[in-house]
Amino acid sequence: QTIHQKDYQVPDYLVDTVELSFDLSPEDTRVLSRLAIRSNHDRSSGVRPLVLDGEELTLLSLKLDGVELEQGSYRVDDSCLVLPDPPERFVLEVTTRINPKENSALSGLYASGPMLCTQCEAEGFRRITYFTDRPDVMAVYTVTLRAYRAACPVLLANGNLVEKGDLPDGRHFAVWHDPFKKPSYLFAVVAGDLVHIADRFTTMSGRQVQLEIYVEERNKDKCEHALRSLMHAMRWDEEQFGREYDLDTYMVVAVDDFNMGAMENKGLNVFNSRYVLASPESATDDDYQAIEEVIGHEYFHNWTGNRITCRDWFQLSLKEGLTIFRDQEFSADMQSRPVKRIADVKSLRSAQFPEDAGPLAHPVRPESYVEINNFYSMTVYHKGGEVIRMLQTLLGREAFRAGMDLYFERHDGQAVRVDEFVQAMADAGKRDLSQFMLWYDQAGTPVLTVRDEFRAGDGSYTLTVTQSCPSTPGQPEKKPFHIPLVMGLLDRAGAELPLRLAGETEPAGTSRTVELRQETETFTFVGLKERPVPSLLRNFCAPVKLDYPYRDEDLDLLMTSDSDPFVRWEAGQVQAVKLIMGLIGDIQAGREARVKESFIESFRRLLCDDRQDRAFLAEALTLPTESYLAEQMQVIDPDAIHQARELVRATVGEQLAAELSAAREACAARAPYRPDDGLAGCRRLKNLSLSYLMAAGGQQAIDACMAQFKSADNMTDSLGALSALANCACPEREEALASFYQRWRDDRGVIDKWFILQAASRLPDTMDRVLALLDHPDFDLRNPNRVRSLVGAFSQGNQVRFHDAGGRGYRFLGDQILRLNGINPQIAARMLTPFSRWRRFDANRQELMKKELERILAEPGLARDVYELAAKSL
Ligand code: ARG
Ligand code: ZN
Repeated sequence: QTIHQKDYQVPDYLVDTVELSFDLSPEDTRVLSRLAIRSNHDRSSGVRPLVLDGEELTLLSLKLDGVELEQGSYRVDDSCLVLPDPPERFVLEVTTRINPKENSALSGLYASGPMLCTQCEAEGFRRITYFTDRPDVMAVYTVTLRAYRAACPVLLANGNLVEKGDLPDGRHFAVWHDPFKKPSYLFAVVAGDLVHIADRFTTMSGRQVQLEIYVEERNKDKCEHALRSLMHAMRWDEEQFGREYDLDTYMVVAVDDFNMGAMENKGLNVFNSRYVLASPESATDDDYQAIEEVIGHEYFHNWTGNRITCRDWFQLSLKEGLTIFRDQEFSADMQSRPVKRIADVKSLRSAQFPEDAGPLAHPVRPESYVEINNFYSMTVYHKGGEVIRMLQTLLGREAFRAGMDLYFERHDGQAVRVDEFVQAMADAGKRDLSQFMLWYDQAGTPVLTVRDEFRAGDGSYTLTVTQSCPSTPGQPEKKPFHIPLVMGLLDRAGAELPLRLAGETEPAGTSRTVELRQETETFTFVGLKERPVPSLLRNFCAPVKLDYPYRDEDLDLLMTSDSDPFVRWEAGQVQAVKLIMGLIGDIQAGREARVKESFIESFRRLLCDDRQDRAFLAEALTLPTESYLAEQMQVIDPDAIHQARELVRATVGEQLAAELSAAREACAARAPYRPDDGLAGCRRLKNLSLSYLMAAGGQQAIDACMAQFKSADNMTDSLGALSALANCACPEREEALASFYQRWRDDRGVIDKWFILQAASRLPDTMDRVLALLDHPDFDLRNPNRVRSLVGAFSQGNQVRFHDAGGRGYRFLGDQILRLNGINPQIAARMLTPFSRWRRFDANRQELMKKELERILAEPGLARDVYELAAKSL
């Protein structure tokens, strides 16, 4: 059944304190819960029943104010426990039994390797004990954990450790108290045979905080980077937002089996181990950056999520969009800001834009859901982050910061809506943001159509900007959005022109933000001598598509001269898209396809430009992905896309072989690898050059690859070579893959990469390979990272092989989703994404994909998660 935002009602009962006591054991854990409950409704017009959520629980005992309740005075079924007529205030004691080992859904309390851990967001707490499992019921928790000391020497929960000691029979206990009121989704416990590394952090007001990262013994030397990232994040939040940490300890635990990236449980974050563990030999530069980002993300949630939480799950973006924005800004400050921005835009365009254009499109604040876990989406997270960024652009940094301060001041300790956040911004910025709220409630990616006119007579230049937004499910018509458009004008020599709007006496700089509110807006700039080139959507100031008829020479000019790095990069991407689209047309029409000389020349110029940042250059020299190209087509033709893009890659590799080799040389390591040696950009450029040389073919490139593979002292270079080899039909490929496996067979994180490389290989035999890997002893459908590495990498990262016209890829994915349905519904649902895009393909592929969706929907016992997405996709 569907839950609607408009049906929200305040809770009938509140819980002030929760005392939990766990007797932990993998197959039989007992949970005693003692809840101080009080009525929160007008009882004079009738007493409402108390409804507690509960799933997969065995109820062992139930007491109200110390008295065991008789059968018949309450009701239990498989989703709740109901007391029809409870008193105004009372203490309820509930004992339940759960089986963590059998919990393959990884929601609630479950076993992962040598430990027991929890994941409660969004609705996992109800799988531990009966509770009003909704974020607007906030309570103070005290937790007692008991377990055998030998199996579980470490016992952790939220907050501060208040007591610990021994019990008879080799058991021991620990008592934790979290002084901050919190919703149940932030509850966490971890118990197991773990070790930790620690450090101390002194907050801006001089308090000492103990930082601890818990891992399995064998991973103890892989936590340094996570710990350092945590300290950077804590300092950054103090400096940028004035936010200080509020408990005496901050704990992070790495677990191998985890549905998502990580979880911000108060004082006790639980992380997917891939976002904690790193060593130079086993982690890439990208891994290091991802760890910094996710560590930052979960830390920033302490204020944006925990101190101020969501009233209900429709408000999810209140904490997620805001925290994504904060982690993006943190990473931008730790690394290259332009390169980070480009990476974020690429991921938005390749994953969120398609979501927003398909049958699963939903607003940043959805109006309804069947299963909330399906809405931890690119839209809620990343478009939500863009919406926050637009607020900062509209208000300016200073007023935005004042709005943040006001938000914290007004709502600390509360569970609120998106409206409260935007109101704080409106008040601080003295702005009317009512139209801006449409970003939260209307789905779809707006398109800005820009046309211009230069009048030589009076030196005026008029930009006409028309916005439109395609219809999305349930929203046929859209109202115009309030959009900041950051822009500039360049003269033919590439100089930035002063921007003076008609009616203004002084120009206001060379970059400015104009605001779009009406469907069509015009802006007339005056004082110009010649037709300028417009630089639009600087820094990707809004999550929109831009339609402006740039000529090739305009793009060349922007690419070399614009002051905004995003615009420089984008100009190159637009050129590449134009080129490849032309080639696709040629291929489809059976014409000879040839790469324009001018394109190769612009790549040559870039490669020889040694003033530019290497990381930025690497981005500029990277072609749009096959899936981004697919987005640009009316009917997606995966084969033609692949062929055209490979043709460009091979041509670049052939014609620029000398320059590419020189770039590799220039970037060759001069010193042993350090993750933070500032040479990550260099390594990226070097590995990109290698992949172009490999695309051109020839034994020389293969030898270079093998040489790098064998001599690499770090995973970035090792994987750079291996991924090029994985796409090469040569004997060296098997040799390298086999030796890589032998070397790393005991490192789960690296073996995940080994699966990914093979699943993402563009070689024609990939489907067979993937099928064989399903039976590999290291493949495990119960481990989400492994599923993502094989099933996900193939179906979401290998367009040309997954969309095989015979339908083998589709059948494979359908099969795996059905198997996963019975194991882990959240992961099964995540794997459905490629099928939701079926309408974008030709009739044959449409038929085949629809058949799979129908087959899935016909499955008896389909999980709610899978059902919702499959049904909406059809
Ligand atoms: N709040 C977590 C984060 O983004 C995500 C947890 C979501 N988990 C889930 N099962 N839906 O930091
Ligand atoms: Zn988050």
